[in-house]
Amino acid sequence: MTKVAFIGAGRIGQTIIYSTLLSGVVDQAIIFDILPNLPQRFKDELMHGLGSARINTKIFATNSIAEVTDADIVLISAGKPRQANQSRTDLFNDNAKIMIDFAKVLPKNNPKALFIMVTNPVDQMASVFMKYSGRLTISSGAQVENTRLRSFIAEKLGVNVDAVEGFTGGEHGEGLSIFWDTVTVNGLPFDEAAKGRLTREEVATYVKGIAAQIIAVLGGTAWGPATTMRDIIVAVSTNENRVMSIAAPLKYKDETIHVSRPTIVGSRIGPSLEKSLSEEDQRLLNAAADKMYNEYKELINNLK
Ligand SMILES: NC(=O)c1ccc[n+]([C@@H]2O[C@H](COP(=O)([O-])OP(=O)(O)OC[C@H]3O[C@@H](n4cnc5c(N)ncnc54)[C@H](O)[C@@H]3O)[C@@H](O)[C@H]2O)c1
Repeated sequence: MTKVAFIGAGRIGQTIIYSTLLSGVVDQAIIFDILPNLPQRFKDELMHGLGSARINTKIFATNSIAEVTDADIVLISAGKPRQANQSRTDLFNDNAKIMIDFAKVLPKNNPKALFIMVTNPVDQMASVFMKYSGRLTISSGAQVENTRLRSFIAEKLGVNVDAVEGFTGGEHGEGLSIFWDTVTVNGLPFDEAAKGRLTREEVATYVKGIAAQIIAVLGGTAWGPATTMRDIIVAVSTNENRVMSIAAPLKYKDETIHVSRPTIVGSRIGPSLEKSLSEEDQRLLNAAADKMYNEYKELINNLK
């Protein structure tokens, strides 16, 4: 029996809920959002879709966070997306306040839950929620960039997406690191497989820049990330032990921060596999962790 609570039913929240419930692994779902009627009418839509797919998930829709109880997994996508003219600091401050409010209520009513953060800046929001709740929180992190990397390389080289392996990590978004020594196509190292056809720079430009291009036209990213969130929920609820670039908590100097690393995801989170990365990829990861620590420290110390 898996009970999943979805906190936020906006653009990405709805897409995650739809993708996840269609996977059939969720027995009970709770949908919470502050907008009146939104969870309730979205529930109707879902019931019709699930009815057509012959899936019997029990759905409870609510505008009261106090009614979000006893979930195994709580996925948080509520909050603001970054506006074109908004600084990273302003987005951090706005969404951190929401996370601190959630941290006062959700943990005590969901004593067994694993918390999965989606709200941006996702790695920092996971750290804020964990700091104020004291509960295990993971960031969906760079797992979406793994799929952007693999699908782009597969398309450009004309191979099935299954033929491409490879991990990204560090920071979700434009500051992402690509662990090139993990990237293979049909078992061959990327440089050998792609020689004369595709460069590392072309791949990096796509993987780091495509979200902004999608947002400019569609208003936000949804379907790509939502499917990776579904994969994380499925991996946890079926104890799949799949290696994913999520960000599990990392004790770094005097803080717990979230930095994406290839990590085993099942009913337990971890271990992380950074020790299996090449020296060069570990160097990239360490540099990312240091940068992310400094940025987080400054933001959390100046949180107003
Ligand atoms: N990690 C990722 O890969 C990824 C991908 C896409 C979006 N995001 C992030 O997810 C967040 C949501 O994006 P979106 O496009 O769905 O935005 P959206 O505006 O469509 O939806 C946000 C939802 O949050 C709800 N909400 C806001 N404050 C709330 C509160 N205090 N309590 C309950 N609900 C509240 C709103 O009512 C709305 O329904 C943003 O921060 C966005 O940047 C992350």
